[in-house]
Parts: sequence; structure tokens; C-alpha cells
Amino acid sequence: MTTSPPIVAVYPGSFDPVTLGHEDVARRTLRVCDRLVVAVAESSSQSKRHLFEVPERLEIMREVFAGDPGIECVSFSGLLVDFAREMGARFIVRGLRAVSDFEYEFQMAQMNRELWDAAETVFLAPDVPYSFLSASLVREVASLGGDVTSFVSPPVHERLRRRFG
Ligand code: PNS
Repeated sequence: MTTSPPIVAVYPGSFDPVTLGHEDVARRTLRVCDRLVVAVAESSSQSKRHLFEVPERLEIMREVFAGDPGIECVSFSGLLVDFAREMGARFIVRGLRAVSDFEYEFQMAQMNRELWDAAETVFLAPDVPYSFLSASLVREVASLGGDVTSFVSPPVHERLRRRFG
């Protein structure tokens, strides 16, 4: 009897901070793969002002996914496709919320395919309540004193509370 190798996927992003939308996409991915590597990019392709440093983002994510045995959280530097290859991952997962996400996601998917043809980018739609949610909105609302409890898990909320009071 032959056993197939486990299907590994990489879910890359900035995750600054990880939202319930990211969590939803990560857990949905486990319906179609055996192991998911949620990977925080040390250098994002977009010039963004960060709220949490990469080690803190990673610490938060490890708390958030502590109850999900198929999910591992790591950081990576350099090209995503090189990292995916190192991880033995053939799938790159990205959440797609709205048409506005499409252009950026399509460009990245095509570039990644040019760089490593064996990698397939797979887009997953988050659950409806998270279809408008983004880490940048969470950062903005939290920094202005708004309630973000319905958008992030308790470990994230706690870090935001410490940061913004
Ligand atoms: O959450 P984000 O910021 O939209 O994620 C963007 C990310 C991290 C997936 C992208 O910037 C990336 O893959 N960075 C790693 C460097 C790389 O491979 N760049 C070329 C991408 S086509």
C-alpha cells in the first residue's frame, strides 16, 4: 500500500495583527491540506508602517493558533517561493475579500508562478462577517480607541489594549 505525502500549504502575509479573517482563512485551508505554515514576511512588498515587530506578531499568532495542531507559525525573509520550496509546500494560500483585492493578488500570483512554476496560488474567501475586515482597519480603529473585540482574538486584543490603552 502506498501512502501519499502530506499536502503542505503556506499562508503568507504581514499579519500586523492577525485578524479573525486571517484565522478563518487558515482554518478553512486545513479542510483541503494536511499541514499549513502561516508565514509572517519579514519584508513585505508594500511599504507599510508596522504596528508590531515580527517577533511579537509571531508570538501573538502562536497563541491564537495554539489549539490548531495542523497549523505552524513561522517568519521568513527573502522570496516567498524560495521559502515555500524549503517548506515542501506546493500551495500558496491567500484570502480574497473583494474585487479590490484582485489586482494586487493576481499580480503576486503571476509573479510567483514566473519565479517557481510548481507553486499554485489558491484563493479562499473568508466567511461573510470578515469580508470587509483588514489588519490596517483594525490598527486604525484600535489606535483611535474603537472596540475591535469582534474582529480579533483575545491575545490580539490584549496586545492592542496594552499598546493603545
Ligand atoms: O499581508 P500582505 O502584506 O498583503 O502580504 C504580502 C506578502 C507578504 C505575501 C508579500 O509581500 C510577499 O510575498 N513578500 C515576500 C517577498 C516576495 O516574495 N515578494 C514577491 C511577491 S510576488
